[in-house]
Amino acid sequence: MLNQEFAVVKRVRTAVFPVAGLGTRFLPATKALPKEMLTVVDRPLIQYAVDEAREAGIDHFVFVTGRNKGVIEDHFDRQFELETTLEVRGKIAALSELRKDLPSAGRTSFTRQQEPLGLGHAVWCAREIVGNEPFALLLPDMLFRGKRGVLKQMMETYEETGGNVIAVEPVPAADVSSYGVVARGEGPDSGFRVTGMVEKPKREEAPSNLIISGRYILQPDIFTLLADQPRGAGGEIQLTDAMQTLMQQQPFVGVQYEGQSFDCGSKIGFLTANVAYALGRDDIASDFLAALAKLGLDSALSEGIRDAAE
Ligand code: G1P
Repeated sequence: MLNQEFAVVKRVRTAVFPVAGLGTRFLPATKALPKEMLTVVDRPLIQYAVDEAREAGIDHFVFVTGRNKGVIEDHFDRQFELETTLEVRGKIAALSELRKDLPSAGRTSFTRQQEPLGLGHAVWCAREIVGNEPFALLLPDMLFRGKRGVLKQMMETYEETGGNVIAVEPVPAADVSSYGVVARGEGPDSGFRVTGMVEKPKREEAPSNLIISGRYILQPDIFTLLADQPRGAGGEIQLTDAMQTLMQQQPFVGVQYEGQSFDCGSKIGFLTANVAYALGRDDIASDFLAALAKLGLDSALSEGIRDAAE
């Protein structure tokens, strides 16, 4: 249905990762270290987001960085000294894992958001690199576990509907004011019409309990709107406000994805993600459970956490 309204479905090849945020909620850890390099078990948050994009078929990775973020660029580069040492020591598995994590040569781009003016402004900073093409946008704070990545699920919907696609999930009413929230129109959970959206509404003004989960597929027309977008919630240039305007011209489709999410922008979400991912790892789960048991954590509870993570 939506496809007829927006006839040409152009392939999405590029993903944008806004990584300029100061990470003040994790100070002092983030004084010198970008928050996107904080690890869940042994992988930095940004690596999970890049993995998710690669699984969805993305082959160009655009990072909107800021001061103190140079290490993200290093992370997605080869490290010859390290590779040589691993080779000499015969650590071939570790070496091939490292190489597997890297996007192909020439497939990463970096630009800087010079001032912290908000997510909408960060996305706008990527306009010249993205060009006149639809693109995916992944906020690395949000981490997902499931059989299929969230962006992949969205891409499947996008291939049918075209337009703009955003991932949503239900949260308790008390939490809506921390997020962007959508109004749900007709259609199944795998692709319904979004009829409105608002950034960080008061609980009583939220149009639903479906929050925007930090994964988007957007048409490039958003850049023109962002160029003149007045400041919104929190005095920042908000992507949600520009999307609400674009919605008057183009369809927006919501995808209530399958999987478990962790908001690693909060300490509780981040710590929970570490427990869930550790308990999902064959190489460490049983030792970790034993260590938790020593802390007095009831083993039935830990089994429960592990089951939910699978
Ligand atoms: C941003 C978006 C918001 C979205 C959230 C997901 O908010 O503006 O719409 O729900 O990410 O994490 P932020 O977390 O930057 O305040």
